[in-house]
Amino acid sequence: ETRIIDASDPAEQNKVVQEVVDLLAAGEVVALPTETVYGLGADALNPDAAAKVFDAKERPSFDPLIVHVGSYEQVDEVAEVPEDLKEIVAKLMKAYWPGPLTLVLPKKDCVPDIVTSGLPTVAVRMSAHPIMKAVVRALGNPIAAPSANRFGRISPTSASAVEKELGGRIPAIVDGGACRDGLESTIIRPEAGEKRPTLHMLRSGPVTKEMLQRFGRVERPKRNRSNEAPEAPGQLANHYAPVTPLRLLRSFADFKPEEGKKYGLLSYCGAEKAGFINAYDWAQVEELSPGNGKLAEAAVRFFYVLRQLDESGVDEIIAEPVSETGLGVAIMDKLRRASIR
Ligand code: TXA
Ligand code: MG
Repeated sequence: ETRIIDASDPAEQNKVVQEVVDLLAAGEVVALPTETVYGLGADALNPDAAAKVFDAKERPSFDPLIVHVGSYEQVDEVAEVPEDLKEIVAKLMKAYWPGPLTLVLPKKDCVPDIVTSGLPTVAVRMSAHPIMKAVVRALGNPIAAPSANRFGRISPTSASAVEKELGGRIPAIVDGGACRDGLESTIIRPEAGEKRPTLHMLRSGPVTKEMLQRFGRVERPKRNRSNEAPEAPGQLANHYAPVTPLRLLRSFADFKPEEGKKYGLLSYCGAEKAGFINAYDWAQVEELSPGNGKLAEAAVRFFYVLRQLDESGVDEIIAEPVSETGLGVAIMDKLRRASIR
């Protein structure tokens, strides 16, 4: 049985934080809100607790967890920042922490191998969510927290989505409301360079390529078409998949409906002139940006809308492309992965 802990009342926050810390300190796992997506948290220095995260998510052991810290000092407890990376790492942390940027750094021995899947590196980030921040600080240890969904499935941006994914498998979910950003953190591996550092972007996210360019040369790893050994091991080709088949189409002309099949549309923005929305009698339509906020709004709503379509009972989801700049890069990356079978 999974308990939902309501964290909407600020006056109750200390009590909620203490309850969660007690569970984590006892080696349990708890789903927690962050500004990106909900995470399934465990004491990052306790290998048995980390094992429970892998179990609950049915996550393969080769896919390492992100470690959440509560202070800059805590980074040095889990990572060994090389001399030639100190400057760029400090600049990135100052610019985007707390916030949706994860840094891959050489790890220290205290981080159990199960957390990093045996890699010599550890992925660290500092969440901007008040609950996650307070819990990490009160626990005293960093918290390993991957997204709180079953492996390969749609990431949860609300407590009820976590319940659908992991209900019955974990002791508690903290309900901190809807996530502010709605997409997982950007993952960067910084590398020292002759003149400027190189920022290897292992996963695109809310901190965009455009935002990072002033810090160094931003490199996107080659797109991984097979399911083998990407540099961020969790970035397998067929990720973020709804149960319902999804197809990303470049243009409406590529849509060849089959007789008797029900199609749902993942529309970017209904007001877009060339959009798919009025071109067919869709069984269900969900707009990423109904308020015309476009990419920022689309990012916040992305996983929610995908889940709505998945639950709508259509036979296939047709996704319309979004413009591939800024946040659109992360959205398109996820749509491509979701549409590979
Ligand atoms: O926004 C986020 O980052 C959310 C919230 C909960 O913090 N977490 C999240 O975790 O998205 P997860 O497990 O769904 O994705 C973690 C990604 C995986 O693709 C994994 O392969 C990569 O981080 N990763 C973790 N440690 C790594 C490492 N040492 N080197 C390269 N990639 C790593
Ligand atoms: Mg995930």
